[in-house]
Amino acid sequence: MKIIRKNIKELNTFGIELEVNEFATLKDESDFSNLSKLNKELLLLGGGSNILFTEAPKECVIHIDTKGKHVIKEDENNVVLEVAAGENWHDYVLWCIEHNYGGLENLSLIPGNVGTAPIQNIGAYGVEVKDRILSVRLYDLETGEKIELNNQSCKFGYRNSIFKNELKGKVIISSVIFKLTKRNHQINTSYGVIKNRLHTDNPNIKDISNAVISIRKEKLPDPQVTGNAGSFFKNPVIKESHYKMLQELHPEMPSYPAENGVKVPAGWLIDQSGLKGHDLGGASVHKKQALVLINKTGRATGKDILDLAKYVQKTVLRNYQIELEMEVNIYPQSFL
Ligand code: EPU
Repeated sequence: MKIIRKNIKELNTFGIELEVNEFATLKDESDFSNLSKLNKELLLLGGGSNILFTEAPKECVIHIDTKGKHVIKEDENNVVLEVAAGENWHDYVLWCIEHNYGGLENLSLIPGNVGTAPIQNIGAYGVEVKDRILSVRLYDLETGEKIELNNQSCKFGYRNSIFKNELKGKVIISSVIFKLTKRNHQINTSYGVIKNRLHTDNPNIKDISNAVISIRKEKLPDPQVTGNAGSFFKNPVIKESHYKMLQELHPEMPSYPAENGVKVPAGWLIDQSGLKGHDLGGASVHKKQALVLINKTGRATGKDILDLAKYVQKTVLRNYQIELEMEVNIYPQSFL
């Protein structure tokens, strides 16, 4: 691995300009076990789609760019695949659809890489990636030892996993093992928006993927054009009593049942607070989906976006007494 100086604007989907003193691209599986020998503080970067840099990293930035997909085993109903961490998520989903492997179609067009998908347990339109993962292969950053964690050991939750908690900064994911269907696909149209978008009563996985792509394109900005990291906040879960109080005041407030209370869409709370299109420096609240913060001018600093996020949190807290939790990792505060 060659260590160089690099501008990583292209490697974070907010498109924040940053000069990094030490940067290396990890292309070979064999390099994973060598990372521990570098003896440096590391910052691991996959697709750069869930991180906001508020300053240039001082650590040695390792861009994980390993490629490869292979079938571990299959029968007439299912296929088990190992996919390298550096594969682009959406390209992988499209490849699955081409091969008629079902299970990931609802997760079409999510930015990021395969190796980072389990960290925040990406989810959309009724499916979470944890539903399709058998295990995750990783390396211990201290010892260089290779480990495999089965699905249960990953402690997946809503936008959460062991990789965001106990194992944060301690391991590097090298590949993910998926179990997908080859026939009798479990078509999931539980989200009304998908049903409305379909042109057939008997959709296949490609129809679902196309519907998801067209819905996402309408609501979510393309990071290649306008810097963003998808949902900036998690949808909060509030106590039943709190929900009842709010519902009396706002009967039209959408909500979903959750394990420890009621889940309320953060996008709605931000929208109703009148913040759609609200600007701060070069940053803005996206006009079509208030849960997304954007680098509107292309010249926003990480601090502009963080200040806007804090302003959104403060406003929603004042209006609804709900604390919004950021979903995006903030460097340096929450990343290491
Ligand atoms: N809403 C508004 N105004 C807005 C945005 C949303 O009123 O500006 C309302 C909508 O009308 C709807 C509700 O809030 O009643 C929920 O909105 P939506 O269906 O767009 O989904 P979401 O809860 O805002 C979540 C995920 C998305 C995922 C969609 C679809 C989180 C944090 N976000 O958004 O994930 O694509 O559901 O399943 O759970 C991401 O994580 O980057 C992401 C985009």
